[in-house]
Amino acid sequence: MNAAFHLIYLACATGFVVGLHMMNSPATARRGNQVSAAAMAVAVGTTVVLLVRAGSVRPVGWLMLAAGAAVGGAAGLYAARTVAMTAMPQLVSVFNAVGGGAAALLAVDDLLRSGGAPVAAALDILIGAVTFSGSLVAAGKLQGWVPSQPIVFPGARALNVVLGVAFLGGGGWLVADPHNRPALVVLAVAALAFGVTMVLPIGGADMPVVISLLNAFTGTAVAMAGFVLGNPVLIIAGALVGASGGILTKLMADAMNRSIPSIIVGGFGTGDSAAPIAGPGGASVRAVAADDVAIQLAYAGKVIIVPGYGLAAAQAQHELAELADLLERRGVEVSYAIHPVAGRMPGHMNVLLAEANVPYPLLREMDDVNPEFARTDVALVIGANDVTNPAARRPGNPVSGMPILDVDQAHSVIVIKRSMGHGYAGIDNELYTNAKTGMYFADAKKGLAALTSAVKTLVG
Ligand code: TAP
Repeated sequence: MNAAFHLIYLACATGFVVGLHMMNSPATARRGNQVSAAAMAVAVGTTVVLLVRAGSVRPVGWLMLAAGAAVGGAAGLYAARTVAMTAMPQLVSVFNAVGGGAAALLAVDDLLRSGGAPVAAALDILIGAVTFSGSLVAAGKLQGWVPSQPIVFPGARALNVVLGVAFLGGGGWLVADPHNRPALVVLAVAALAFGVTMVLPIGGADMPVVISLLNAFTGTAVAMAGFVLGNPVLIIAGALVGASGGILTKLMADAMNRSIPSIIVGGFGTGDSAAPIAGPGGASVRAVAADDVAIQLAYAGKVIIVPGYGLAAAQAQHELAELADLLERRGVEVSYAIHPVAGRMPGHMNVLLAEANVPYPLLREMDDVNPEFARTDVALVIGANDVTNPAARRPGNPVSGMPILDVDQAHSVIVIKRSMGHGYAGIDNELYTNAKTGMYFADAKKGLAALTSAVKTLVG
C-alpha cells in the first residue's frame, strides 16, 4: 500500500474521531453521524480500489462481494428506517452480533488460508464469537423471544468454567499450531456457547448495559481483525468503538449506581409491570383528574417536565410537545429535566423529544436542572419512576446512591402513569405518597391529549 492510500485511511480515521466528537451534543449529533458515515464510505471505497489494484479477487469473488453488500446494505437500511424507537436497543444488539460475527469469520478465513498473526486471530475468534451469540440472546430477551427473567440453571457456573478452559485451551493450541482445524473448532464452539451462558442469567432490564458492553467487544474484535489483515483503518475504527463502548458501559453503570460485575452476575431488574392503585404499605395516594391538572399547569409560572420510560412506551412525545407548546404560548416557562438513565438506552429521552421537534436548549441535564426544582410551580412527571424515587437518598434498597432528579423539591408534583406499578428497579416510589404529589392515572398518550384539551377548554 503506497503513501497516498495511507493518507486516505488517516483522513478516514480523523473523520471517525471528529464525527464521534460531534455526537457529544444533540445539536451536532446528526451531522457527526453523517461525517462518520461518509468517512466509512470512503474507507470502504479505498479498500475496493486496493483490491482491484492487487488483482487478487476473482470474478466470482466480486460477485459475492457485490451480493453481500447489496443484501446487507438493504437489510440494514430497511431495519434502521422502520424500527420503532423502543426497539432500538435490540436492533443495536443485532448489529453488534453481525459485527462480531463478521470479525470472527475474517480471522477464521485468514487462519485457513495463511495461518498468519495467530494470536490476533485467536483473540478475534474468541471475542467475535462471544459477541455474536451473546448479542443474539440479548436481542431475543429484549424482543421477548427469549424469557427476559434471569435464567439460571443448575451447574451453570461449572459449565462456564468448562467453557473457559475449552476456549483458552483451544486458543492456545491454535496459536501453537495455526493450521489445526480441531483447535479452531474447539475455540469457536466454546466461545459461542460462552456468549449464550454469559447473557442468559442477566435480567432483561439490564440488557442495555450488556448491549453496550457487547458493543465494546465488537469494536475490540474488529480491531483484532485489523491486526489480522494489517488494515490500519479497521484497527482505528475498532479501537474507537471498543473504547467508547467501554466508557459508555461504565457511565451507564455509574448512573444506576451499579458495578459492571454485579450486572454481569445478573438477577436484577425484572422490568415494569402494572399494579393495583394503592400506596406502598397502605399509605394514601392522591389521585387527580385532568381538569385539576390543567388548572395547575395553565396558571403556573414555571413547569419542569420529567420524561421517563413510560413516555417512550406510550409513544406520547408528540402529545407532550403539543401540551408544552400550548403552555409556552400562555407564557409559562417550560423546560425538560433529562436523567442520564431515564428510559432504556443512553440518550433515549433526547432522541424521543427530538422526534417531536422539542428545541434542544429546553432539555436540561440533571445536575444543571436539580437546583431549579425548588423554584418550580409544577414538576410534571410522565412515565418516569426510578429516576425520581427519593428512596435513592437512603441506603439499603436497589436504587440507593443512584443520583435522582429532585422532583420532590417542586411546589407541586403531578405524575402521569397507568397505575402504582413499579419501574425497572421493582420497588415502590416514595414520591407517589408525598403530600405534594397528585397521581394522574392514565396512559401517557391518552392522558396528555386529555390534558391539552382540558387546558384549551379552560383558557378558551
Ligand atoms: P422506570 O423506572 O422503568 O418506570 C417507568 C414507568 O413508566 C413505570 O413505572 C410504568 O408505570 C410507566 N409506564 C409504562 N408504560 C406507560 C404508559 N403507556 N403510559 C404511562 N406510563 C407508563 O423508568 P425511568 O424512571 O425512566 O427509569 C429508567 C430505569 O431504567 C432506571 O432504573 C434505570 O436505571 C434503568 N435502566 C436505564 C437504562 C438507560 S441507559 N436508560 C439502561 C438500563 C436500565 P405504570 O405501569 O404504572 O404505567
